[in-house]
Amino acid sequence: MAGNRTFSMIKPDAYEAGNTGAILKMMEEAGFRIVSMKLTRLTADNAGAFYAVHKERPFYQDLVSYMSSGPIVALILEKDNAVADFRKLIGATNPAEAEDGTIRKLFAKSIEANAVHGSDSDENAAIEGSFFFAETEKF
Ligand code: CMP
Repeated sequence: MAGNRTFSMIKPDAYEAGNTGAILKMMEEAGFRIVSMKLTRLTADNAGAFYAVHKERPFYQDLVSYMSSGPIVALILEKDNAVADFRKLIGATNPAEAEDGTIRKLFAKSIEANAVHGSDSDENAAIEGSFFFAETEKF
């Protein structure tokens, strides 16, 4: 159903720091059900395609090399009002501006290495989820 799913990635900095379990726990404790989950690694080409919307931004090349620098955990998550509630749980893109208790405040290292991704709309949640998962991998 539209509106009740979002897409997330646990990014290379958070995976490398061993924070995957703690972040998954925060997601579940906030009421998100795991629909799909995969530990994988993006090639530079895949990272570039995933973030193509940012192609003209000055940080794009750095973002692509960072996002392909190590494993990530891709997730589809389900909850009423998933996109907005998940963005509240992760906090502002820049961890310096993120509220206390948010995932980025707790775990992000910088505005780029910001621990997690969360879709910004229902439409992008569907597109991003299908970037990683086939329909048969959505539970
Ligand atoms: P995300 O929510 O995944 O969406 C785009 C990503 O680009 C963002 O998280 C950060 O990882 C990165 N990003 C956004 N703004 C900047 C910036 N000003 N400088 C560097 N990286 C950024």
